[in-house]
Amino acid sequence: MVPSVLPTYNRAPLSFEKGEGSWLIEADGSRYLDLGAGIAVNALGHANPELVATLTEQAGKLWHTSNLYQIPNQQKLADLLVEHSFADTVFFTNSGTEAAELAIKMARKYWYEKGQPERIGILTFEGSFHGRSTGAIAAAGGDKMTKGFGPLMPGFTQLPFGDLDALKAAIGPETAAILLEPVVGEGGIKVWPDAALKAIRALCDETGTLLILDEVQCGVGRTGKLFAHEWAGITPDIMMVAKGIGGGFPLGAVLATEDAASGMTAGTHGSTYGGNPLGCAVGAKVMEIVADPAFLDEVNRKAGLFRQKLEGLIAAHPEVFEEVRGLGLMLGIKCKVPNVDLVKAGYAEHVLTVPAAENVIRLLPALTISDDEIAEAVTRLDRAATAIEAA
Ligand SMILES: Cc1ncc(COP(=O)(O)O)c(C=O)c1O
Repeated sequence: MVPSVLPTYNRAPLSFEKGEGSWLIEADGSRYLDLGAGIAVNALGHANPELVATLTEQAGKLWHTSNLYQIPNQQKLADLLVEHSFADTVFFTNSGTEAAELAIKMARKYWYEKGQPERIGILTFEGSFHGRSTGAIAAAGGDKMTKGFGPLMPGFTQLPFGDLDALKAAIGPETAAILLEPVVGEGGIKVWPDAALKAIRALCDETGTLLILDEVQCGVGRTGKLFAHEWAGITPDIMMVAKGIGGGFPLGAVLATEDAASGMTAGTHGSTYGGNPLGCAVGAKVMEIVADPAFLDEVNRKAGLFRQKLEGLIAAHPEVFEEVRGLGLMLGIKCKVPNVDLVKAGYAEHVLTVPAAENVIRLLPALTISDDEIAEAVTRLDRAATAIEAA
């Protein structure tokens, strides 16, 4: 008999009753050091007091009105995002997938309105992940995500990760946009080199192609800059954000330049819940905290500390681990043993990590993780690796 919850997830036998900062706590009081943060979502830790206060204050006033009316919190968050990014304008969604849908629609509508409706092609990269909608699975491609789901939305071409020659060859008169994750998340924590991102921006400028960046996982302070593309000194035309921006409250956004967004006029897109007062109150508080340069300096300092300790861990367990990769507090360890074994051994040591492709475990802690918690995390991972060696 099918379970009452559709069995699409392989869940761990763990269930948490509450959270405190970097910790998740079971009903019996057992504490787990959370290096997954809800897959890069709880950017400011669990039950962050400032976010709890912001959410509960708004909850006592107004939850939902629909986008038929002005929403002051939405305006506030949009202004903050515009102030701190390349963007001129923002549309709010409830998730990263919905942000992907709009980014695709926006790019196609742009060319339609410019009198080049044939420019519908979107170039993406193998191993990327943009969500689970029909558009997002067509964008990422790959059997794992698309098999059995019928005819895919046309117009997407997946190229090998990092292959600029293939990219140059693929751009043609029907290309609307290039879509990529500056730091690939689900695909195994792979960082696009700055030089490659600069070359892609230049290629877009030469050919008029729109550059869409998916910063759903790597954005909002995760890499030590507010947005990951800032490391390369480039800007996109369109950017998808979600996860960390809501600190745990479902919230996403598409940010765009005025030109890139020019096709999206009244009536061309919408959402019942997108940009609701609750989500935007929390999002604005997250932005106020994360966009502070002093906060980002701390993320970078802690990322350096974590990485240094992880290099030591890898050196101590050469049969278990291969390398550390990533940027800021978006870290991956490529394993020599099956990554899921490591994740499970972590459960026994009460440390939570997240598997990714390429046999990587992801470490995506709360950006507020303390130095002591970083040391404790590495101690627990060390014990997990030792248990695997002994097995
Ligand atoms: C890079 C990237 N894009 C899009 C998504 C989809 O976001 P959501 O699960 O909020 O729909 C994810 C989720 O993991 C992601 O990592």
